Amino acid sequence: MSDLFDIDLATARQRRSLKWRRYPDDVIPLWVAEMDFAVAPVIAERLESLLEGGDFGYPPEPPERGTSEFGEAVAGWMSRRHGWSIDPSMVSITPDTMRVLEIAIAQFTEPGTPVVLTDPVYYPFRVVIEDAGRLPLWVPMVHSGQRWELDLGALAEAFAQESVRLYLHCNPHNPTGTVFTIEEMQAIADLAEQHGVLVVSDEVHSGLAHEALHVPFATVTPTIAERTITASAASKAFNFAGLRCGFAIAGSRKLHDQIRAVPTRQRKLTSLPGYEATIAAFTGGDPWLEALNSHLIEMRDHVVTRLGAIDRSLVTSVPSASYLLWTDWRQFDIGSEPATFLLEEARVALSSGGDYGPSGEGFLRVNFGTSRAILDEAIDRIEVAVAR
Ligand SMILES: Cc1ncc(COP(=O)(O)O)c(C=O)c1O
Repeated sequence: MSDLFDIDLATARQRRSLKWRRYPDDVIPLWVAEMDFAVAPVIAERLESLLEGGDFGYPPEPPERGTSEFGEAVAGWMSRRHGWSIDPSMVSITPDTMRVLEIAIAQFTEPGTPVVLTDPVYYPFRVVIEDAGRLPLWVPMVHSGQRWELDLGALAEAFAQESVRLYLHCNPHNPTGTVFTIEEMQAIADLAEQHGVLVVSDEVHSGLAHEALHVPFATVTPTIAERTITASAASKAFNFAGLRCGFAIAGSRKLHDQIRAVPTRQRKLTSLPGYEATIAAFTGGDPWLEALNSHLIEMRDHVVTRLGAIDRSLVTSVPSASYLLWTDWRQFDIGSEPATFLLEEARVALSSGGDYGPSGEGFLRVNFGTSRAILDEAIDRIEVAVAR
Protein backbone atom coordinates (compact mmCIF):
# COMPACT_ATOMS: atom_id res chain seq x y z
CA MET A 1 0.00 0.00 0.00
CA SER A 2 2.97 2.34 0.50
CA ASP A 3 3.01 2.96 -3.29
CA LEU A 4 -0.08 5.06 -2.63
CA PHE A 5 2.16 7.59 -0.95
CA ASP A 6 4.98 7.53 -3.50
CA ILE A 7 3.93 10.67 -5.35
CA ASP A 8 6.27 12.35 -7.82
CA LEU A 9 6.46 16.10 -8.29
CA ALA A 10 4.83 16.12 -11.73
CA THR A 11 1.83 14.16 -10.44
CA ALA A 12 1.49 16.30 -7.34
CA ARG A 13 1.52 19.44 -9.48
CA GLN A 14 -1.64 18.26 -11.20
CA ARG A 15 -3.55 18.60 -7.93
CA ARG A 16 -6.12 21.35 -8.04
CA SER A 17 -6.36 22.14 -4.34
CA LEU A 18 -5.15 25.29 -2.62
CA LYS A 19 -1.80 23.84 -1.59
CA TRP A 20 -0.68 23.47 -5.19
CA ARG A 21 -2.52 26.41 -6.69
CA ARG A 22 -1.47 29.36 -4.53
CA TYR A 23 2.15 29.62 -5.72
CA PRO A 24 3.78 29.58 -9.17
CA ASP A 25 4.65 26.24 -10.76
CA ASP A 26 8.31 26.30 -9.77
CA VAL A 27 7.50 26.44 -6.05
CA ILE A 28 7.32 23.31 -3.89
CA PRO A 29 4.45 23.89 -1.47
CA LEU A 30 4.98 22.49 2.04
CA TRP A 31 2.60 24.88 3.74
CA VAL A 32 -1.20 24.42 4.30
CA ALA A 33 -2.20 21.24 6.16
CA GLU A 34 -3.18 19.05 3.23
CA MET A 35 -1.33 15.93 2.12
CA ASP A 36 -0.43 15.11 -1.47
CA PHE A 37 -2.17 11.73 -1.49
CA ALA A 38 -5.37 10.54 -3.09
CA VAL A 39 -8.12 9.63 -0.62
CA ALA A 40 -8.46 6.05 0.64
CA PRO A 41 -10.04 3.68 -1.92
CA VAL A 42 -12.97 3.12 0.45
CA ILE A 43 -13.75 6.85 0.30
CA ALA A 44 -13.25 7.09 -3.46
CA GLU A 45 -15.70 4.20 -3.99
CA ARG A 46 -18.33 5.85 -1.84
CA LEU A 47 -17.95 9.13 -3.72
CA GLU A 48 -18.06 7.31 -7.06
CA SER A 49 -21.40 5.81 -6.10
CA LEU A 50 -22.76 9.33 -5.53
CA LEU A 51 -21.38 10.37 -8.90
CA GLU A 52 -22.87 7.37 -10.68
CA GLY A 53 -26.30 8.18 -9.31
CA GLY A 54 -25.86 11.91 -9.85
CA ASP A 55 -26.83 12.10 -6.20
CA PHE A 56 -25.83 15.55 -4.94
CA GLY A 57 -28.75 16.68 -2.81
CA TYR A 58 -28.70 17.97 0.73
CA PRO A 59 -27.13 15.67 3.30
CA PRO A 60 -29.40 14.02 5.83
CA GLU A 61 -29.09 15.56 9.29
CA PRO A 62 -29.05 13.37 12.38
CA PRO A 63 -32.32 13.65 14.29
CA GLU A 64 -32.08 15.88 17.36
CA ARG A 65 -32.12 13.04 19.84
CA GLY A 66 -32.11 9.88 17.78
CA THR A 67 -29.26 8.04 16.14
CA SER A 68 -28.05 8.29 12.59
CA GLU A 69 -25.59 6.57 10.30
CA PHE A 70 -23.25 9.52 10.76
CA GLY A 71 -23.47 9.58 14.55
CA GLU A 72 -23.03 5.80 14.66
CA ALA A 73 -19.97 6.02 12.41
CA VAL A 74 -18.36 8.67 14.64
CA ALA A 75 -19.21 6.68 17.79
CA GLY A 76 -17.81 3.46 16.29
CA TRP A 77 -14.58 5.22 15.37
CA MET A 78 -14.13 6.83 18.81
CA SER A 79 -14.75 3.52 20.52
CA ARG A 80 -12.47 1.49 18.22
CA ARG A 81 -9.61 3.96 17.95
CA HIS A 82 -9.67 5.76 21.29
CA GLY A 83 -11.64 3.51 23.64
CA TRP A 84 -14.13 6.34 24.06
CA SER A 85 -17.77 5.45 24.38
CA ILE A 86 -20.01 8.29 23.22
CA ASP A 87 -23.73 8.67 22.69
CA PRO A 88 -24.16 8.95 18.88
CA SER A 89 -27.04 11.37 19.37
CA MET A 90 -24.65 13.91 20.91
CA VAL A 91 -22.84 14.35 17.59
CA SER A 92 -23.70 17.57 15.75
CA ILE A 93 -22.57 17.95 12.17
CA THR A 94 -20.86 21.13 11.04
CA PRO A 95 -19.22 22.09 7.75
CA ASP A 96 -15.80 21.97 9.38
CA THR A 97 -13.93 21.82 12.66
CA MET A 98 -13.49 25.57 13.04
CA ARG A 99 -17.26 26.08 12.94
CA VAL A 100 -17.46 24.24 16.28
CA LEU A 101 -15.06 26.75 17.83
CA GLU A 102 -17.09 29.62 16.39
CA ILE A 103 -20.32 28.20 17.83
CA ALA A 104 -18.75 27.74 21.27
CA ILE A 105 -17.39 31.29 21.28
CA ALA A 106 -20.79 32.66 20.31
CA GLN A 107 -22.76 30.53 22.76
CA PHE A 108 -20.56 30.55 25.83
CA THR A 109 -18.71 33.88 25.91
CA GLU A 110 -19.58 37.58 25.77
CA PRO A 111 -18.24 40.14 23.30
CA GLY A 112 -15.17 41.94 24.60
CA THR A 113 -14.13 39.10 26.95
CA PRO A 114 -10.95 37.00 26.70
CA VAL A 115 -10.81 33.49 25.24
CA VAL A 116 -7.79 31.39 26.21
CA LEU A 117 -5.56 29.74 23.58
CA THR A 118 -1.99 28.48 23.45
CA ASP A 119 0.90 30.42 21.95
CA PRO A 120 1.58 29.19 19.32
CA VAL A 121 -1.49 27.49 17.89
CA TYR A 122 -3.20 26.91 14.52
CA TYR A 123 -3.76 30.56 13.56
CA PRO A 124 -7.53 30.46 12.81
CA PHE A 125 -8.04 30.01 16.58
CA ARG A 126 -6.99 33.65 16.96
CA VAL A 127 -8.96 34.65 13.89
CA VAL A 128 -12.27 33.20 15.10
CA ILE A 129 -11.80 34.80 18.53
CA GLU A 130 -11.11 38.22 17.00
CA ASP A 131 -13.81 37.92 14.33
CA ALA A 132 -16.33 37.35 17.12
CA GLY A 133 -15.18 40.50 18.91
CA ARG A 134 -13.48 38.56 21.73
CA LEU A 135 -9.86 38.93 22.89
CA PRO A 136 -7.16 36.26 22.49
CA LEU A 137 -5.57 35.45 25.86
CA TRP A 138 -2.34 33.65 24.99
CA VAL A 139 -0.81 31.02 27.27
CA PRO A 140 2.72 30.02 26.25
CA MET A 141 3.87 26.59 25.17
CA VAL A 142 7.32 26.11 26.71
CA HIS A 143 10.13 24.04 25.24
CA SER A 144 11.14 21.32 27.63
CA GLY A 145 14.00 19.15 26.43
CA GLN A 146 12.48 17.25 23.54
CA ARG A 147 8.98 18.64 23.33
CA TRP A 148 6.69 21.62 23.66
CA GLU A 149 4.52 21.68 26.78
CA LEU A 150 1.81 23.95 28.04
CA ASP A 151 2.84 26.35 30.82
CA LEU A 152 0.34 25.19 33.43
CA GLY A 153 1.16 28.02 35.84
CA ALA A 154 0.33 30.56 33.15
CA LEU A 155 -2.84 28.60 32.30
CA ALA A 156 -3.91 28.76 35.97
CA GLU A 157 -3.37 32.52 35.97
CA ALA A 158 -5.40 32.92 32.78
CA PHE A 159 -8.27 30.75 34.08
CA ALA A 160 -8.29 32.73 37.33
CA GLN A 161 -9.33 35.88 35.46
CA GLU A 162 -12.94 36.65 36.32
CA SER A 163 -14.14 37.07 32.73
CA VAL A 164 -12.56 33.87 31.32
CA ARG A 165 -15.16 31.26 30.36
CA LEU A 166 -13.61 29.32 27.48
CA TYR A 167 -10.31 27.63 26.63
CA LEU A 168 -9.56 26.37 23.11
CA HIS A 169 -7.42 23.27 23.54
CA CYS A 170 -5.62 21.75 20.56
CA ASN A 171 -4.53 18.11 20.84
CA PRO A 172 -2.62 16.78 18.94
CA HIS A 173 -1.17 20.26 18.90
CA ASN A 174 -0.72 22.18 15.69
CA PRO A 175 1.98 23.43 15.04
CA THR A 176 4.28 21.81 17.64
CA GLY A 177 3.18 18.18 17.17
CA THR A 178 2.78 17.66 20.91
CA VAL A 179 0.37 14.96 22.03
CA PHE A 180 -0.57 15.88 25.58
CA THR A 181 -0.21 13.19 28.24
CA ILE A 182 -3.13 12.13 30.41
CA GLU A 183 -1.42 13.78 33.39
CA GLU A 184 -1.08 17.08 31.55
CA MET A 185 -4.70 16.99 30.50
CA GLN A 186 -5.85 16.03 33.99
CA ALA A 187 -4.08 19.12 35.29
CA ILE A 188 -5.82 21.25 32.64
CA ALA A 189 -9.16 19.60 33.48
CA ASP A 190 -8.70 20.26 37.21
CA LEU A 191 -8.02 23.92 36.50
CA ALA A 192 -11.04 24.14 34.20
CA GLU A 193 -13.29 22.64 36.90
CA GLN A 194 -11.81 24.83 39.61
CA HIS A 195 -12.44 28.02 37.63
CA GLY A 196 -15.64 27.05 35.81
CA VAL A 197 -14.05 27.17 32.36
CA LEU A 198 -15.51 25.35 29.35
CA VAL A 199 -13.02 23.51 27.13
CA VAL A 200 -13.33 23.07 23.39
CA SER A 201 -10.89 20.32 22.52
CA ASP A 202 -9.90 20.40 18.86
CA GLU A 203 -8.86 16.81 18.10
CA VAL A 204 -8.88 16.95 14.32
CA HIS A 205 -5.33 15.51 14.13
CA SER A 206 -6.11 12.61 16.51
CA GLY A 207 -6.24 9.96 13.79
CA LEU A 208 -2.61 10.78 13.06
CA ALA A 209 -1.09 10.17 16.50
CA HIS A 210 2.11 8.17 15.98
CA GLU A 211 3.93 6.51 18.87
CA ALA A 212 2.00 8.56 21.42
CA LEU A 213 -1.47 7.53 22.48
CA HIS A 214 -4.20 10.02 21.76
CA VAL A 215 -6.57 10.33 24.69
CA PRO A 216 -9.76 12.36 24.18
CA PHE A 217 -9.80 15.30 26.57
CA ALA A 218 -13.40 14.56 27.54
CA THR A 219 -12.27 11.27 29.15
CA VAL A 220 -9.34 12.37 31.31
CA THR A 221 -11.32 12.80 34.54
CA PRO A 222 -14.68 11.32 35.48
CA THR A 223 -16.43 14.70 35.31
CA ILE A 224 -14.63 16.80 32.69
CA ALA A 225 -16.98 15.72 29.87
CA GLU A 226 -19.63 17.93 31.51
CA ARG A 227 -17.58 20.94 30.44
CA THR A 228 -16.03 19.66 27.20
CA ILE A 229 -17.02 20.03 23.58
CA THR A 230 -14.85 17.99 21.24
CA ALA A 231 -14.35 19.47 17.78
CA SER A 232 -13.18 17.13 15.05
CA ALA A 233 -13.51 15.82 11.50
CA ALA A 234 -12.37 12.86 9.45
CA SER A 235 -11.04 15.24 6.84
CA LYS A 236 -7.57 15.88 8.29
CA ALA A 237 -6.47 12.27 8.75
CA PHE A 238 -8.22 11.20 5.55
CA ASN A 239 -7.24 14.24 3.50
CA PHE A 240 -10.54 15.58 2.19
CA ALA A 241 -10.71 19.05 3.77
CA GLY A 242 -12.33 20.42 0.61
CA LEU A 243 -15.45 18.30 1.15
CA ARG A 244 -16.33 20.38 4.23
CA CYS A 245 -17.53 18.13 6.99
CA GLY A 246 -16.78 18.30 10.70
CA PHE A 247 -18.64 17.63 13.91
CA ALA A 248 -19.01 18.51 17.57
CA ILE A 249 -19.35 15.94 20.32
CA ALA A 250 -21.04 17.44 23.36
CA GLY A 251 -19.92 15.99 26.68
CA SER A 252 -23.32 16.50 28.26
CA ARG A 253 -26.94 16.78 27.18
CA LYS A 254 -26.94 20.39 28.38
CA LEU A 255 -24.00 21.31 26.14
CA HIS A 256 -25.59 19.41 23.28
CA ASP A 257 -28.81 21.40 23.65
CA GLN A 258 -26.82 24.65 23.71
CA ILE A 259 -25.06 23.71 20.47
CA ARG A 260 -28.38 22.67 18.92
CA ALA A 261 -29.95 25.95 20.07
CA VAL A 262 -27.92 27.61 17.30
CA PRO A 263 -30.24 27.74 14.29
CA THR A 264 -29.30 25.24 11.58
CA ARG A 265 -28.71 28.06 9.13
CA GLN A 266 -26.04 29.46 11.43
CA ARG A 267 -24.63 26.07 12.39
CA LYS A 268 -24.46 25.51 8.63
CA LEU A 269 -24.64 22.18 6.92
CA THR A 270 -22.03 19.94 5.46
CA SER A 271 -22.12 18.67 1.85
CA LEU A 272 -23.45 15.24 0.94
CA PRO A 273 -20.00 14.15 -0.35
CA GLY A 274 -18.45 15.31 2.95
CA TYR A 275 -21.10 13.42 4.93
CA GLU A 276 -20.62 10.24 2.90
CA ALA A 277 -16.82 10.46 2.91
CA THR A 278 -16.81 10.78 6.71
CA ILE A 279 -18.95 7.65 7.10
CA ALA A 280 -16.73 5.75 4.66
CA ALA A 281 -13.55 6.85 6.47
CA PHE A 282 -14.84 6.04 9.93
CA THR A 283 -16.30 2.66 9.03
CA GLY A 284 -13.71 1.30 6.61
CA GLY A 285 -10.67 3.59 6.57
CA ASP A 286 -8.55 1.87 9.23
CA PRO A 287 -6.16 -0.12 6.97
CA TRP A 288 -5.42 2.89 4.78
CA LEU A 289 -4.83 5.05 7.84
CA GLU A 290 -2.42 2.50 9.33
CA ALA A 291 -0.42 2.55 6.10
CA LEU A 292 -0.52 6.36 5.99
CA ASN A 293 0.72 6.65 9.56
CA SER A 294 3.65 4.32 8.83
CA HIS A 295 4.54 6.47 5.84
CA LEU A 296 4.25 9.68 7.88
CA ILE A 297 6.55 8.34 10.59
CA GLU A 298 9.14 7.56 7.89
CA MET A 299 8.77 11.03 6.38
CA ARG A 300 8.97 12.66 9.78
CA ASP A 301 12.19 10.87 10.66
CA HIS A 302 13.61 11.67 7.23
CA VAL A 303 12.82 15.38 7.38
CA VAL A 304 14.09 15.62 10.97
CA THR A 305 17.38 14.01 9.95
CA ARG A 306 17.84 16.10 6.84
CA LEU A 307 16.94 19.45 8.42
CA GLY A 308 19.00 18.54 11.47
CA ALA A 309 21.98 18.02 9.17
CA ILE A 310 21.57 21.58 7.86
CA ASP A 311 21.57 22.94 11.40
CA ARG A 312 20.99 21.06 14.64
CA SER A 313 18.90 23.79 16.20
CA LEU A 314 16.39 23.88 13.32
CA VAL A 315 14.28 21.01 14.63
CA THR A 316 12.81 21.96 18.00
CA SER A 317 10.92 18.73 18.65
CA VAL A 318 9.99 15.51 16.89
CA PRO A 319 6.22 15.60 16.42
CA SER A 320 4.26 12.82 18.13
CA ALA A 321 1.41 13.20 15.65
CA SER A 322 0.43 14.43 12.21
CA TYR A 323 2.64 15.75 9.43
CA LEU A 324 3.69 19.19 10.64
CA LEU A 325 7.14 20.12 11.91
CA TRP A 326 7.80 23.29 13.92
CA THR A 327 11.24 24.62 13.00
CA ASP A 328 13.33 27.46 14.44
CA TRP A 329 15.16 29.72 11.95
CA ARG A 330 16.20 32.48 14.34
CA GLN A 331 19.88 31.60 14.20
CA PHE A 332 20.05 32.12 10.42
CA ASP A 333 20.87 35.47 8.90
CA ILE A 334 18.01 35.32 6.40
CA GLY A 335 16.04 38.45 7.23
CA SER A 336 13.10 39.02 9.52
CA GLU A 337 10.75 36.73 7.59
CA PRO A 338 12.33 33.33 6.87
CA ALA A 339 9.26 32.22 4.89
CA THR A 340 9.81 35.04 2.39
CA PHE A 341 13.50 34.24 2.12
CA LEU A 342 12.87 30.55 1.43
CA LEU A 343 10.07 31.28 -1.00
CA GLU A 344 12.27 33.65 -2.99
CA GLU A 345 15.63 31.92 -2.69
CA ALA A 346 14.66 28.22 -2.49
CA ARG A 347 11.25 28.32 -4.19
CA VAL A 348 9.80 26.38 -1.27
CA ALA A 349 6.62 27.61 0.44
CA LEU A 350 6.44 27.08 4.21
CA SER A 351 4.02 28.50 6.79
CA SER A 352 5.24 31.57 8.61
CA GLY A 353 5.52 31.01 12.37
CA GLY A 354 4.46 34.52 13.37
CA ASP A 355 0.94 33.75 12.19
CA TYR A 356 0.63 31.10 14.92
CA GLY A 357 1.12 33.46 17.84
CA PRO A 358 3.51 36.04 19.29
CA SER A 359 6.13 33.39 20.12
CA GLY A 360 6.18 32.09 16.54
CA GLU A 361 8.31 34.88 15.03
CA GLY A 362 11.36 33.34 13.35
CA PHE A 363 9.75 29.87 13.22
CA LEU A 364 8.37 28.03 10.20
CA ARG A 365 5.93 25.14 9.98
CA VAL A 366 6.97 22.45 7.52
CA ASN A 367 4.34 20.09 6.07
CA PHE A 368 5.89 16.66 5.46
CA GLY A 369 2.63 15.03 4.34
CA THR A 370 4.10 14.14 0.98
CA SER A 371 6.58 11.74 -0.61
CA ARG A 372 10.27 11.33 0.07
CA ALA A 373 11.08 12.51 -3.47
CA ILE A 374 9.22 15.80 -3.01
CA LEU A 375 10.68 16.35 0.45
CA ASP A 376 14.19 15.69 -0.80
CA GLU A 377 13.79 18.13 -3.67
CA ALA A 378 12.51 20.81 -1.25
CA ILE A 379 15.23 20.22 1.34
CA ASP A 380 17.98 20.17 -1.33
CA ARG A 381 16.78 23.60 -2.41
CA ILE A 382 16.63 24.89 1.18
CA GLU A 383 20.13 23.58 1.87
CA VAL A 384 21.55 25.41 -1.15
CA ALA A 385 19.69 28.64 -0.35
CA VAL A 386 20.82 28.87 3.28
CA ALA A 387 24.43 27.98 2.36
CA ARG A 388 24.59 30.94 -0.05
C1 LIG B 1 -5.94 22.10 14.76
C2 LIG B 1 -6.76 22.36 13.56
N1 LIG B 1 -8.05 22.67 13.71
C3 LIG B 1 -8.84 22.91 12.64
C4 LIG B 1 -8.32 22.85 11.37
C5 LIG B 1 -9.21 23.18 10.23
O1 LIG B 1 -10.08 22.16 10.04
P1 LIG B 1 -11.43 22.45 9.24
O2 LIG B 1 -11.03 22.76 7.85
O3 LIG B 1 -12.19 21.19 9.43
O4 LIG B 1 -12.06 23.63 9.95
C6 LIG B 1 -7.00 22.53 11.16
C7 LIG B 1 -6.45 22.50 9.80
O5 LIG B 1 -5.32 22.28 9.58
C8 LIG B 1 -6.19 22.29 12.29
O6 LIG B 1 -4.90 21.98 12.15
